[in-house]
Amino acid sequence: MRTKVRWMDKIVKVIKGTGFSSISAQEIEILEQYLYCIDKNGMIIKRLNPSDSQYNQTLQEAKETNKLIALEEGQYLLPGFIDLHIHAPQWGQSGTALDIPLHQWLDTYTFPLESKFNDNMFAEKVYSHLVDTLLAHGTTTGLYFATIHEEASYKLAEICAKKGQRGLVGKVVMDDLEQNPEYYRDKDTKTALEDTESFIKRIKTLQPEIKQGVYPVIIPRFVPSCTDQALEGLGELTAKYDVHVTSHCSESDWEHGYVKERFGKNDAQVLNDYGLLTDKSVMAHCNFLSDADALTFKKQGTAIAHCPISNAYFANGVIPIKKFHEFGVEIGLGTDLSGGFDPSVYSAIRQAVISSRMLEDGVDTSKSPIERSTTDKSRITVKEAFYFATAGGGESLSLPIGRLVENYAFDAQVIDTRTPNASMPIFNDSEPLEDIFQKLLYLTKRENITSVWVQGEKIQK
Ligand code: GUN
Ligand code: FE
Repeated sequence: MRTKVRWMDKIVKVIKGTGFSSISAQEIEILEQYLYCIDKNGMIIKRLNPSDSQYNQTLQEAKETNKLIALEEGQYLLPGFIDLHIHAPQWGQSGTALDIPLHQWLDTYTFPLESKFNDNMFAEKVYSHLVDTLLAHGTTTGLYFATIHEEASYKLAEICAKKGQRGLVGKVVMDDLEQNPEYYRDKDTKTALEDTESFIKRIKTLQPEIKQGVYPVIIPRFVPSCTDQALEGLGELTAKYDVHVTSHCSESDWEHGYVKERFGKNDAQVLNDYGLLTDKSVMAHCNFLSDADALTFKKQGTAIAHCPISNAYFANGVIPIKKFHEFGVEIGLGTDLSGGFDPSVYSAIRQAVISSRMLEDGVDTSKSPIERSTTDKSRITVKEAFYFATAGGGESLSLPIGRLVENYAFDAQVIDTRTPNASMPIFNDSEPLEDIFQKLLYLTKRENITSVWVQGEKIQK
């Protein structure tokens, strides 16, 4: 009689298939016909490749006990994507008003829309549609700005929790009387801080029930929206509760310049002085970070949420993302809905590569190639952009997510290259997997993503 695989009792599912996962920003693992053994907590507790001695027996036992889920021919596994910058209420205006500058866009479109989220029914409608849409595009973890309203922000966290997405959600703080319109700002600084604290406590109460995790986030919208007292109070809450923090940092000429004029220093230094840069902080954009700012990020373990689509509209420049990564700053990707119009992290991956190429080559064709080029070696490859969307995002949030490896959560998307009407030009049965990987990243559409898993659970559509 054969002996059972010792740890098999702890396994509730075994997924079999070919997939891809980052080893580093430069290197991927090609995981051909691997087995992922998942425990009741949704963690990968064993990963086996076909040459491992336990492979065949594990496969056999998984079949006999109905625990096996095998991918079909033409299907591939990728880690679930991590979107580090989403404005949930702005989903309602995605694809509009991108032809005007940032501050005008905020005043004429964004603030009026966000103010409507004092209506919980409206919030539920928009947020449910958004979370479904993001999951369908392979986004298994989202870092969300809600609005100033505590109730609607809590509703967003509940929707993520219920639908099975890992949500990091915050109530947005905007208390400055001059920078925010009367119809959309916190009642006063004290209320803004009390509502933030109450929100943190409520999410912490919800937390133990949610398998995939739900996390409260402290969110000063950006330095211009907040009084010094609010920034100070939010820094104190950060220290008290040890929770995630997010904001916008050095995004555009206007915003970066405003902070410099008010404080005589850059956003990064202001945020750091108030205790808002920690290893659980993720700062969106960071296009105008100085080298000294980047070193502060590295020292504090603070990450950049790179939002390449929105940056093309609002940033007035291209971030040297390669340089900041080489400095040792953690980097992930953000859609920045709706400054970025597209809910798909695939699109963010593609634009991250494209923008970096334009930065390297320069754009003024009246100049010679040497004069045209603005920076040396600033291009990133599609592997690097994939790393930012997965493993880099996980590191940015200090969570064990974004890789198909042992002791990480099983968060994954199944891409079917053979769905009807797929725009997937794979004509050769023995096409190298390295090339398939690139096609997946450049050509996958929502229709190709046939299933999505978060913390070992398949998302019900
Ligand atoms: N700065 C302050 N608020 C916002 C916002 O909603 N979107 C972007 N892109 N930048 C901001
Ligand atoms: Fe944003």
